[in-house]
Amino acid sequence: MPRVKCAPIAAGGSGEVGMASKPKILVTKLLFPAARAVLDKTGEIDYWAGPEAIPRAELLKRVADKDALVCLLNDKIDAELLAAGPQLRIVATVSVGYDNIDVPACTARKVIATNTPGVLDDTTADLAWALMLAIARRLVEGDAWVRSGNWRGFSMDHLLGADVYGKTLGIIGFGRIGRCVAKRGLGFGMRVLYSGSKRAPVDVERELNAEFVEQDRLFNESDFVSLHVPLNPQTRHLISKENLEKMKRTAFLINTSRGPVIDEAALVYALESKKLAGAALDVYEQEPFIHAGLKRPNVVLAPHIASASLETRTKMAVIAAENVVTFFKGKKPANMLNPEAWKAG
Ligand code: DGY
Repeated sequence: MPRVKCAPIAAGGSGEVGMASKPKILVTKLLFPAARAVLDKTGEIDYWAGPEAIPRAELLKRVADKDALVCLLNDKIDAELLAAGPQLRIVATVSVGYDNIDVPACTARKVIATNTPGVLDDTTADLAWALMLAIARRLVEGDAWVRSGNWRGFSMDHLLGADVYGKTLGIIGFGRIGRCVAKRGLGFGMRVLYSGSKRAPVDVERELNAEFVEQDRLFNESDFVSLHVPLNPQTRHLISKENLEKMKRTAFLINTSRGPVIDEAALVYALESKKLAGAALDVYEQEPFIHAGLKRPNVVLAPHIASASLETRTKMAVIAAENVVTFFKGKKPANMLNPEAWKAG
């Protein structure tokens, strides 16, 4: 089994939170040198160095003697894992989304949970836009056509797509990432509608030329609907058969949030029955499984890469590492999801 153990390379970093020796930290990916440099100074690190995600059984086994866990969004942190790692004090996911973590279960065990918000907003917005342009302008179909050797030169009516500029962009979830998506819409002269649990400050609306609307109106009027909500019980299957039917037949759906926000069976039905022009997806209900009905020309499929630039993924890994290191220095990590666990601990 892949295992890279790194002994601590510097003094300090132990004892501040009541530990007699260096903290033992499990990291479910080798991460990037910049993040390893932060972690390796602090504790005794057990890196999972396999190319694939760490198998569940291996994760449960290795966490048994660990004080901290740096994990990825596909590692499920639930009551079973917390019971398997009774010494755990902190779990740091290298992602902004934290639907992989049962935060109340962490709090119940006084385990701090952290994520990595902020650094991936623009990178994720860039990919949402890449998907939007790719599906509207049939870029993936065009690429396949050229590579197939079938292209015989310019044609007046081949691969006609839809314009993006000047259209209406509907953004569901107007947090940091949704706003970055809206900002890019300014350059394309788009009308931007948004919906969400709360209205943005007036100066933000003015700066982004964005209008807060009821969700139904957003579905009715948008040419592109882009999803930027966290996954929780309220947003699971937000894109339902009923809501898809409110969309224009000429509209496109873009998802860089979490797969289960869309009811994929309903989406496939909408595409098959031509109730929707197309979809461009980065995330799926049961990754890495892809619903067979989504493998069609009017769907662009990306492999959960919205934040996957080298710069951004490095920053995310460093933040997760710093959250752990800060904790073992006895200070509050910057991105606590359950500050109440700190008070209780
Ligand atoms: C996240 O951080 O939640 C993204 O889905 C992956 O970068």
